[in-house]
Amino acid sequence: MRAFQPPITLKAAIAAFAVMVLFALSLTAASQTAFAQQGAEQNALQSNPTGGEVPGQSLGASSDADMWRAVRGGVQGTVSIPDEQAGVLVQSGGDIWRAIRNGPISNYSAYAIFAIIALLALFFLMRGRMRVSKGMSGRTITRFRYYERMGHWTVAISFILLSLTGLNILFGRYVILPVVGPEIFAQVTLAGKFIHNYVAFAFAVGLVWIFIHWVPHNIPTLTDVKWALKGGGIIVPSVHPDAYKFNAGQKVIFWLTILGGVSVVMSGWALLFPFTTSMFAKTFAFVNAVIGTSLPETLTPMQEQQFAQAWHTIMSVFLICVILAHIYIGSLGMEGAFAAMGSGKVDINWAREHHNLWVEEEERKAAAGRSSAFDKGSAAPPGAAQVPAE
Ligand code: HEM
Repeated sequence: MRAFQPPITLKAAIAAFAVMVLFALSLTAASQTAFAQQGAEQNALQSNPTGGEVPGQSLGASSDADMWRAVRGGVQGTVSIPDEQAGVLVQSGGDIWRAIRNGPISNYSAYAIFAIIALLALFFLMRGRMRVSKGMSGRTITRFRYYERMGHWTVAISFILLSLTGLNILFGRYVILPVVGPEIFAQVTLAGKFIHNYVAFAFAVGLVWIFIHWVPHNIPTLTDVKWALKGGGIIVPSVHPDAYKFNAGQKVIFWLTILGGVSVVMSGWALLFPFTTSMFAKTFAFVNAVIGTSLPETLTPMQEQQFAQAWHTIMSVFLICVILAHIYIGSLGMEGAFAAMGSGKVDINWAREHHNLWVEEEERKAAAGRSSAFDKGSAAPPGAAQVPAE
């Protein structure tokens, strides 16, 4: 009788087991490779969802890089909605504009304003208040009539409101927001925006008003050169150079206010009515034609806005610095000056020290019986009876 034979020998079983283990191992390895491959493909798909092709195949098999380069370059496409600006998918110039606006423009504006305040404080400490050398006489002369003062204060009050609300737009989020919190800051800034937008019209009207009334007195003359060469009498207290109604320093303030003011009003207009103007392209073309520069003469509506915003800020901050110096001289810096724009009348000794040629002109007018600054309510010219003040 044959002995029992197991269906498989031990050796065969071990071999079969080994084959199975190998098979299992190779399966694991294969599946791991497959998973890894799948993961890589998924990653690739996430970073490059279209597989390098434009979705929808509308442009054929062009590379992503070329397409996005064009998009980043600000290529203007076509859209079927009224807002043509929407045809520009990525407006890369906006990055540059924002970096400049929140970087150098904001920084240098802050430095400039602090510097001018520090200089004025230093000047005050060194020079003190400019006094009337001969002291006040108690007799007055009409320096500015009511319509002149009305024009001045229209420009001045509107400018101060525009400056405060404008500076809040530039710096408020860094200076005021952390102090008052977002709710109050939002309300203040919203109110400020309305004040800024509407008061700008009063400023523009005031500019035209003072231009009409004061331009005849602000034409530069040789007297202004001599005044400037003597330092305007600002440095040495006893020096009082000749001056008519406005001295050279005041003429500079006048022209900066008018020209700078017009420039700020025009760039502000471009911001108030966006995408409706092309004044920067035209200005650049003009400048290129006159001095041969190569400024860009073709600007997109968005670039026009960016130039308008940058210019509006730079010019406004420059004017704020100039006007801070003006306010100092017109109030704290010089004894007797504020009355010129307050009551409209100044002491005759003050007038002779700072505007001697103007006083002489008015005396000649009065002597000739013409309307003059010595009319009712002012000091009498030499030889005439004093008219009592109102
Ligand atoms: C509280 C603020 C201000 C004060 C106290 C003030 C004071 C004065 C005074 C006293 C004068 C007459 C000077 C004289 O008799 O010779 C004057 C003139 C003038 N002011 Fe103002 N002012 C102020 C704000 C402004 C502002 C904000 C502007 C323009 C944005 C401005 C523009 C002018 C101009 C163009 C003149 C004529 C030229 C000159 O005298 O410099 N003022 N101001």
